[in-house]
Amino acid sequence: MQSVPNKVLNKIYTNRSTFIKSKERFKNLIQGFNKHFPNESSKLAFFHAPGRINIIGEHTDYNGLPVLPIAIDRDIVAVISKRNDNRIVLANTSSSFNKINFTLAPNLPHAEKGSWENYVKAACQTVINYTGTHKLFGFNAVIDSTIPIAAGLSSSAALTVLITKILVELNKIRIDSLILAQKVAEGERYVGTATGGMDQTISLLGKPGHALKINFLPKLNVEPVKLPKNYSFVVSNSLVHAEKSGAVQQHYNRRVIECRLVCALIEQYLNINGYKLKLNLLGDLKKCLTKGTTKFKTGKLKDRDIFDLINLVLKKESYKLTDIAEILEITTNVLTKKYLILPNENVFIEPEDGFKLKPRCLHVLKEWIRLETAVRLMKKNDVKKLGKLLLESHNSLAESYEVSCPELNKLVKIALDSGAVGVRLTGAGFGGCVISLVKNTKVGSFIAKVKKEYYKSAVDETTMFVVTSTIGAGKLF
Ligand code: GLA
Repeated sequence: MQSVPNKVLNKIYTNRSTFIKSKERFKNLIQGFNKHFPNESSKLAFFHAPGRINIIGEHTDYNGLPVLPIAIDRDIVAVISKRNDNRIVLANTSSSFNKINFTLAPNLPHAEKGSWENYVKAACQTVINYTGTHKLFGFNAVIDSTIPIAAGLSSSAALTVLITKILVELNKIRIDSLILAQKVAEGERYVGTATGGMDQTISLLGKPGHALKINFLPKLNVEPVKLPKNYSFVVSNSLVHAEKSGAVQQHYNRRVIECRLVCALIEQYLNINGYKLKLNLLGDLKKCLTKGTTKFKTGKLKDRDIFDLINLVLKKESYKLTDIAEILEITTNVLTKKYLILPNENVFIEPEDGFKLKPRCLHVLKEWIRLETAVRLMKKNDVKKLGKLLLESHNSLAESYEVSCPELNKLVKIALDSGAVGVRLTGAGFGGCVISLVKNTKVGSFIAKVKKEYYKSAVDETTMFVVTSTIGAGKLF
């Protein structure tokens, strides 16, 4: 039976116990493949794509502002064989997932909402659109995932990245990895959530020992930042499911739309005041910050701080659709068509409590500043101050962005009481995980205390674990 060499596994699973388990895992995977595809005699290939945590910079990516994630050794691995036609046949080692079987076509029809098949199709559609052909080699595959589902650790992006990488490799498509990251991120919107590009980029480009500062403007680029010395990030799952293709989708898309509406109002204000600036994303505000300071300059507004600008533009916390249309001097119909259309072409329905433009905007801009500070602190290994920033970020996500939940807040409190120097939710929120920054010498007692206080009973290592950074997605062997 074909197997994966130790030196390959060693590159991904630097943690000893994960490495040992990975050998058993790959063995099971190959057995699973033989069961699903008993007559397959062609050579097998192996791929992996990691999940991630994000240290700071939450809900900034779709605003064109940076993020700081780490690729982690919780990943999806695939064993595959190339087909001679353009069919995709894919099974999962977990029996909760149906077997997938479809032929590539110019426009792939969606599977039912919530199905994992949509992520596989999103990846295939991305490659079809990029190459301009659906006449690509398909594959038979079995995959296995150690990324907890709906936990904010990017299991869906890892799947999309994995499938894309397989197709790119099998069809010998030449594409730069940054462009690929961008394409996969855009392609994943097929599933209906207007996500940014953080998850796909880190899954593709992760680097051991480092987080990546991912900048989206003026164009996608990444900067490795060394992880703090003598400290670890510990993941704790709140066990509240945050299914991005399910209930969370509406809440997430709402934030994206609220940020778009803020941009429209700021742009309008600036234009009226004689400053011509196209503001598609809040990150475009970078263009009007004078170099080296956060001072804001326009023809008429002198040396105003960016937050003064926000206070000038956004006079109240929450806006009705009719308020916004009136300010922009357009009809609500035009406004809807321009700003409220979702990736699946549906119209976003106005929330009963209005669009909470001011708190959302303040979170995003302050989170950006926190991220830049965090990168500087990491370079100095100033972990105490970094920890404080993580907590500030969490509080802002809870209060201004409203993406936390009682369970996450409870975990944050318990983590702080158990010795973490900083803690926050990671990923989109609405459930999922928190990450705690903990001194290495205290990790054991920290985990024991959190287990006792939050989980009350024993939990396995998918629920609470120490993060080990790893390499980005690719062919292993
Ligand atoms: C999800 C999205 C990312 C990002 C985070 C929030 O993980 O997929 O693009 O927006 O939420 O920071």
